[in-house]
Amino acid sequence: MNIAIVGSGYVGLVSGTCYAESGNEVFCVDIDAKRIAQLVEGKIPIYEPGLEELVRRNMKEGRLHFTTDLAEAVRQSMVSYIAVGTPMSATGAADLTAIFKAAEDIAKSITGYHILAIKSTVPVGTNARVRDIVGKFAKHRADVCSVPEFLKEGSAIEDFMRPDRVVIGSLSDQATAILKEIHNPFVRTDNPILVMDPHSAELTKYASNAMLAMRISFINEMANLCEAVGADINSVRRGLGTDKRIGSSFLFPGVGYGGSCFPKDVQALIHSGSEHNLDFAILRAAEAVNARQKRQIPARVKQHFGQNLSGRTFAIWGLAFKPRTDDMREAPSLVVIEELLQAGAKCQVHDPEALENARAYFGDRVSYHKTNYEALKGADALLILTEWNEFRHPNFQRIKAELKEPVIFDGRNLYDPDLMKALDLRYYSIGRHPV
Ligand SMILES: NC(=O)c1ccc[n+]([C@@H]2O[C@H](COP(=O)([O-])OP(=O)(O)OC[C@H]3O[C@@H](n4cnc5c(N)ncnc54)[C@H](O)[C@@H]3O)[C@@H](O)[C@H]2O)c1
Repeated sequence: MNIAIVGSGYVGLVSGTCYAESGNEVFCVDIDAKRIAQLVEGKIPIYEPGLEELVRRNMKEGRLHFTTDLAEAVRQSMVSYIAVGTPMSATGAADLTAIFKAAEDIAKSITGYHILAIKSTVPVGTNARVRDIVGKFAKHRADVCSVPEFLKEGSAIEDFMRPDRVVIGSLSDQATAILKEIHNPFVRTDNPILVMDPHSAELTKYASNAMLAMRISFINEMANLCEAVGADINSVRRGLGTDKRIGSSFLFPGVGYGGSCFPKDVQALIHSGSEHNLDFAILRAAEAVNARQKRQIPARVKQHFGQNLSGRTFAIWGLAFKPRTDDMREAPSLVVIEELLQAGAKCQVHDPEALENARAYFGDRVSYHKTNYEALKGADALLILTEWNEFRHPNFQRIKAELKEPVIFDGRNLYDPDLMKALDLRYYSIGRHPV
């Protein structure tokens, strides 16, 4: 099968590569000529474990191509996936400009029967609007399907190759059969391909992200109560998560959720609700809790050091919104560092992969450090904001020696409070007793 992928960012690049890996010939398209030029040279513009090797192999085998020529890519293919961005607009609604532009360009380029499969996360009703566009511009029959993507940055390839489920929103038996054929290699362990109407497929994606965001806000709220009453969130989390009805994933307290999806998707779902006179109160609460949670660590720093932080320097370990990615979009670190800077502090930051992307946000307002220990030099305290594996077993004696005051603010509960006590380190974490 020949496939065009329109939009070669996190989702488009990973999906295109994985479709090529299963034997298809794939044409990845982007309007960003610089990105395409890099990809043509085998340079991967994002950090995603395992991606580079897979891209290079499939390019070498001649199954994976990169181009800015959308029309040619579509002409070569029977299916075009739309994987362009759907960022948050000023009203909170998803901005669909890129979706409609891509749909129009694809419709104008088709030379026979074609499937437009919308992979981007789009509000309910978008499939119908894209069908209208296709009806207006296409000279041949085309079906528009919704195939939302559920991969997670940091384990995107594994998620794509072995998804829990594939959702196909379709009104056409022919398109459903073709899309099933493309996705069958990824569900060989009998995980389901769920076929439904496009409205339901669009909503399934938002329902999933909204549920996960709510779980995070719920456990963060529980953590705050644990602190207030002297309970331990780790014990509560275990007791809660072992209930089979609840499960243990996405129940880790922290510095709030971020990234390119949860914040904007929760907003977009609230907005979709409001368009149908539904006040999505539960999601507004999840969002408010999340905004508050991002300020927990700076508040604790100020409790410890005082409101005015001028003359203070903080080492920050972890900037990306989660480990195993370099993605800084809506990262909680942006809020934490901004609050510290506003209060007059200096920040010495380290992240294994996101330093370059962080520069776009902070410029020269912080200092960047290639190693985590380098960031500690002369700092008053250490803040941990992303749970990279390499932060889990550091040399605590070295941390103590480098810091002016042996204090750690751990936004990810990486360490055992008893160990911190034994090491004589002042240790603040989330939902547990400070020691
Ligand atoms: N990042 C994730 O983890 C993730 C997971 C699941 C779903 N999604 C959804 O997938 C969509 C894409 O997300 P992303 O993170 O890959 O975004 P991204 O910003 O990384 O990539 C989007 C790409 O589309 C390109 N583009 C924009 N308009 C174009 C056009 N008209 N023609 C060709 N290319 C165009 C951009 O240049 C960019 O490279 C969003 O709707 C997002 O919500 C993202």
